[in-house]
Amino acid sequence: MNKKMKVGVIGLGGMGRYTHVPALLELPEIEIAAICDIVESKFKPAEDLIGKPVAKYTDYNNLLDDNVVDAVHICTPNYLHSVIAVAALKKGAHVFCEKPDAVSVAEAEKMKAAADASGKVLMVMRNNRHVPASKYLKDKIENGDFGDLYCGRCGWTRRRGIPGKGGWFTSKSQSGGGPLIDLGVHLIDLSIYLMGNPRAVSVSGSVYNKFAECSDISDSEHSKFGEKVEGGTFDVEDLAIGFIKFENGASLQIEFSWASNIEEERAFSEIRGAKAGFTWENGKCRIFGEENGLLTNSAPIVSDAYGNGHAKNIRHFYDVIAKRSKPDYTIEQGINVIKILQAVYKSAELNREILL
Ligand SMILES: NC(=O)c1ccc[n+]([C@@H]2O[C@H](COP(=O)([O-])OP(=O)(O)OC[C@H]3O[C@@H](n4cnc5c(N)ncnc54)[C@H](O)[C@@H]3O)[C@@H](O)[C@H]2O)c1
Repeated sequence: MNKKMKVGVIGLGGMGRYTHVPALLELPEIEIAAICDIVESKFKPAEDLIGKPVAKYTDYNNLLDDNVVDAVHICTPNYLHSVIAVAALKKGAHVFCEKPDAVSVAEAEKMKAAADASGKVLMVMRNNRHVPASKYLKDKIENGDFGDLYCGRCGWTRRRGIPGKGGWFTSKSQSGGGPLIDLGVHLIDLSIYLMGNPRAVSVSGSVYNKFAECSDISDSEHSKFGEKVEGGTFDVEDLAIGFIKFENGASLQIEFSWASNIEEERAFSEIRGAKAGFTWENGKCRIFGEENGLLTNSAPIVSDAYGNGHAKNIRHFYDVIAKRSKPDYTIEQGINVIKILQAVYKSAELNREILL
């Protein structure tokens, strides 16, 4: 029997404990050998789920120094992604990191340099690429069914749904930004991926902070991440809006909010092709075309829409390590998304378009 690959999960909050550990437990060739969090009370719930005692660390450096794992999953606040990824790659571990890749282009480039030097696999969560509707659309796009994809708009707009208000999510030094970096990375990445990864050449955007003092009311099932800190910091935007132009002439409007006065939450990518267009919304899709002189709408039935893109992405990571699959994400694509996000913030600050 082949030896199991030993894995460490670093950060045992919402994503580490509730998404990565359960997904890893489904993989027969993987053994969770170590867990790490700075808060010791996070160990027991994770270990209970794993169902056996594992090595426990409050410092990820000790986990890496002990050489007890072949791969790590990084599920910590955003500012630690690049720091831990670089340390793990230097120790010869494969790295699967939660989104966003990093809080700046410079940090993302350090991750790429460390991955190149180590020869190990570095992959960042792109769960929305892995839901069935995205695969279905990607195949049809590559088949030419939509024609030239020339423009689109995407967003994740919440009416009220600020994650962990006052904690790391709303502190720029730890998150790198608000809904633009938290939610934008999902839908901007998905839209650009579906559009065939065109290179962005200019970005303009605005960001707003109007809800720092808002009540705790929430209508978003996706906003339960992070821990609220009474009287904590809220120095990031709560809404970002922008416009991206690409080298091939295509364009993309973007809008992301944790709080805004709209009817209801939407997470969507709507891309127009010369032959047909589509809307991807919460992991389901609809297609708008024309056939035999009639306008047509169609919607494939996808059995498991939104949730398990995470597990599928994690499965893909181990298939790439085992050379059973080609990676469907490159670090360069990740860096390009961070460049766009950084340019939206810069455009908002300078009140002008930014050329990339
Ligand atoms: N892909 C998705 O759909 C999705 C959804 C939510 C969050 N995320 C991402 O997952 C990451 C974690 O988010 P979350 O919602 O789980 O946050 P969280 O606050 O619930 O969990 C973070 C955990 O990291 C721990 N931690 C902090 N510093 C650490 C350190 N130095 N070493 C080890 N552990 C440390 C914290 O104690 C906490 O338990 C973020 O980067 C976030 O953007 C992704």
